[in-house]
Amino acid sequence: MAVGVFDSGLGGLTVLDALQRRLPKVPFVYFGDNAHAPYGVRTHDDIFNLTCAAVERLWAEGCDLVILACNTASAAALKRMQETWVPPEKRVLGVFVPLIEALTERQWGDNSPPREVSVKHVALFATPATVASRAFQRELAFRAIGVDVEAQPCGGVVDAIEQGDEILAEALVRSHVEALKRRMPHPEAAVLGCTHYPLMEKVFQEALGPEVKVYSQANLVAESLADYLTRRPEMLGQGNDSKFLTTGDPASVTNKATQFLRRRIAFEAA
Ligand code: DGL
Repeated sequence: MAVGVFDSGLGGLTVLDALQRRLPKVPFVYFGDNAHAPYGVRTHDDIFNLTCAAVERLWAEGCDLVILACNTASAAALKRMQETWVPPEKRVLGVFVPLIEALTERQWGDNSPPREVSVKHVALFATPATVASRAFQRELAFRAIGVDVEAQPCGGVVDAIEQGDEILAEALVRSHVEALKRRMPHPEAAVLGCTHYPLMEKVFQEALGPEVKVYSQANLVAESLADYLTRRPEMLGQGNDSKFLTTGDPASVTNKATQFLRRRIAFEAA
């Protein structure tokens, strides 16, 4: 009954952690494509091909349902995968929709027409590929009217986090927030649209100011998956074991992941 969780690297562990806390009985198989991270600077074709390869590997582990715990893959590849590639008996779900449902005060899975919502000015922080895809604005427009979105591509932040350079990551976050505020001085809400950014949430909140509500995805995705599995329990696949797979060097990914989540996580070769 395992569920697959995919990310380009370590960032998806923030989502996995929330999933494991919300659904402690469900085994999760995590796939980090560390050998090819970061995805945020790759072309959409490249992201599509890499994501499909990873999802196939998770299907082979008995995970009929795979969560793309990676905004970049959700933004640049998911729609094309769902429309052209995923067979009917499998599911691949992304991380954008739960976040947008929360931002627009909707029940999970509510597909009614777009309507006015209380938030009017939203700052989006994401990787360059996610920003370029405009997937966030598209999904938002399906659900809300009259929301102004200002997107900031946060070049360099994922690399700095993956390399464990917190000082650089913090300096980059502050300068990206400053750049966004020059274009939108008073956002009401800020979306951390990359799974790595919750690790820098305090810095984002400090730089944005206390009046800005910061949305990060992990808990929203966990709630939405719990709801989905009560509606579609048959989507729990055959796999029984939790495991962590990587395309990178398992020993070094294990070390970084353990540092990242502050508990021991042992990766094996994908
Ligand atoms: N952590 C991923 C995301 O949520 C992608 C980071 C990257 O590989 O650039 O966007």
